[in-house]
Amino acid sequence: MEFDRVVDQTHAVRAFSHKQVPDETLCAIVEEAVNAPTWMNAQERKIYIATGDKAAAIRKEYAELGAANTPDRGAYKMGHHSDWSEAAQQNMAHFQDVAARTVGDDGSLLGRAENELFDAPAFALLALPPKPAPWGILDLGALEEAIVLCAANKGVSSIVAYAFIKYPDVLRKYLPIPEDQEVVIGIGLGYPDPDSPLNKIHAGRVPLDDVLTIN
Ligand SMILES: Cc1cc2nc3c(=O)[nH]c(=O)nc-3n(C[C@H](O)[C@H](O)[C@H](O)COP(=O)(O)O)c2cc1C
Repeated sequence: MEFDRVVDQTHAVRAFSHKQVPDETLCAIVEEAVNAPTWMNAQERKIYIATGDKAAAIRKEYAELGAANTPDRGAYKMGHHSDWSEAAQQNMAHFQDVAARTVGDDGSLLGRAENELFDAPAFALLALPPKPAPWGILDLGALEEAIVLCAANKGVSSIVAYAFIKYPDVLRKYLPIPEDQEVVIGIGLGYPDPDSPLNKIHAGRVPLDDVLTIN
């Protein structure tokens, strides 16, 4: 696909159809994405992908835990809005506003979708050893975006989401994630449900002048 189109099309999908992503496609996405740079080529990163029955079993357990408002159990927490700058807090508030207006409810549809892991037929979990070097987190972010772009290039939609990492014990039950690895972030992968209002949420971007300075 044209690179401009790939970049243009990588928006968060929050409702996936049941169509599965072939394992070969998932492999090809990761094979390309690991070209992302890392600190002195440390390549400190592991990727675990859940598919098919395992992904379904994880989604089911997450949905039950989420519906029961079970507190998050991961090493990486959501944090608070107050951890962010005023400007970032305003952007987050604006996003929540746009999402609520687009979906047409108080956010419960989005909350349920998060609990159900957006129905993603596959999801990649990116992991690091506990207490990683800060550059390791930066490197994982680069890998995250590379996976998103390489997936889009192959017609696979995605969402990067904290929602995937709330209950690592459930992830470990179905996936061979060793205790010396912590899941830092998840990426849902699949094909969008064309009818869901959740996929009509369009998060804007601040004007370029607010983010870029060239002298
Ligand atoms: C680290 C990270 C965690 C995220 N977690 C969630 C999440 O738990 N639920 C959700 O709906 N979106 C989540 N998102 C998606 C963001 O809301 C989305 O990327 C942002 O609003 C931009 O939207 P766009 O990709 O559609 O342009 C997350 C994104 C990132 C980078």
